[in-house]
Formats: sequence, structure tokens, C-alpha cells
Amino acid sequence: MKKIFLVANWKSHKNIQEAHTFITRFLSSSFINWLHASQEEKALTKEIILCPPFHLLSELAKMITDIHVKVPVELGAQDISPFASGSHTGEVSASEVVGLVKYIIIGHSERRREFGETDELVARKVKEALRAGLEPIVCVQEESTPVPDGVRIIAYEPLSAIGSGKPDSPEDALRVASTFKSSGVPYVLYGGSVTSENVHKFTSLEGIDGVLVGGASLDPDSFAEIIKRA
Ligand code: PGA
Repeated sequence: MKKIFLVANWKSHKNIQEAHTFITRFLSSSFINWLHASQEEKALTKEIILCPPFHLLSELAKMITDIHVKVPVELGAQDISPFASGSHTGEVSASEVVGLVKYIIIGHSERRREFGETDELVARKVKEALRAGLEPIVCVQEESTPVPDGVRIIAYEPLSAIGSGKPDSPEDALRVASTFKSSGVPYVLYGGSVTSENVHKFTSLEGIDGVLVGGASLDPDSFAEIIKRA
């Protein structure tokens, strides 16, 4: 059974009220029914991963559990501390989010650009995530970006495609994905200006295992449509 990862990166968006509105609409019973039926029918697992900002994680975890249908939605954090728990003001360590999230996005280009994150820091964060038993999703911007040991999922996100409305071509994304796969990374996602109109062009390719979605994941209908068409 092929697995497709559909990751929503909310970045620095939404307060509690807005998150409630999203979840209520996103997890409507018709969408959930459709999801269950389509997974059985197509022998395809769609792993839906919502990555809200830290302050929403426990609220979202509660909301997802409270909805009385078996909801195949997982949570992820958008970043993690390179330190273990301790005296590190403002940091959230991997062991602190155990039980809340399954995944952690690490090394997004916005963190590299705005906070000066280096490959070395990314590797330290990956180590902490793995030590806590969490699954890192490491963002890489080019073919030469190093992938730390133990990483099973990466998201190839060329800088020119992020938030620009100009996605990479599926052929180029596949070429880069194949390079990473041949160096031993099992799952390669594509990210950058993914919409419901273009998602299938990427996910229909054997060598691309899903998408990481920014802007188009903020609206529940638009993200649901991406999942349906993936
Ligand atoms: P975008 O963002 O979908 O808005 O281009 C993708 C990302 O930054 O992960």
C-alpha cells in the first residue's frame, strides 16, 4: 500500500478561536467518511499531518480526540529545541512534546533565513527529535543540503517555489527526489506553492511521497480539497 504524506504547515498563523473554526469545518463528518471510504477503495494511505504553532498543539490534540469518529489525523511541531529539557528560556524540547505530536518539521528555509539556522544546528535538532522517539521531517532547499543520519522523511522545497505561486516543475522535483532516494532517504515530499490544482501532478509520481503545504493549508476547504485530489 502506497503512503502519501499531506503535511499542513500553518507557520505563524491562527489563535485558538481560529483553530477551532478550522477543525470544526475540516473534520466535518462528510469529509471523514469520504476519507475512510477512499483509503479502503484505493489501497492508499493518506497520512494527514497538521503542524500548527506550539501554542495550539494541546488544544488541537484535544479537539481531534473529542471528535467521535476515528480521525486519521496526526500532529506535528514546526520546530524543536536543539537542547534537552533544562534551563533554556523560550525553548520547547523534544521530550516536552512527546505524547502530543508524532512528527517535527526541522530546518524549514524560513528558520534558516530568519534565525540563521545552520546544517549543524539542524543536525542537533534531528538528534533530539530522534532521541525522544519523534519523526523528523527535514526541509532541504537544494540537492546539496545535507540530510542528518536517521532521517526517514525529507521535504524538498526550492526557495523560489515557497509562497511565490510558482511551484517547481514535477519533473525537476522528481529528479531531485530521486537523488535523495538513491542516497538512502525512504520518503521525499515536495513543498512550495502546492494547491489543489497542482497537487496530483506531484503525488501521482512514484518517487514523490507527499507534499508539504503552507498557504493553501490555512483554509479547511482548500486543504481538504488537496487531500482529496492527492
Ligand atoms: P507554501 O509554503 O505552500 O505557502 O509555498 C510551503 C512551505 O513553506 O513549507
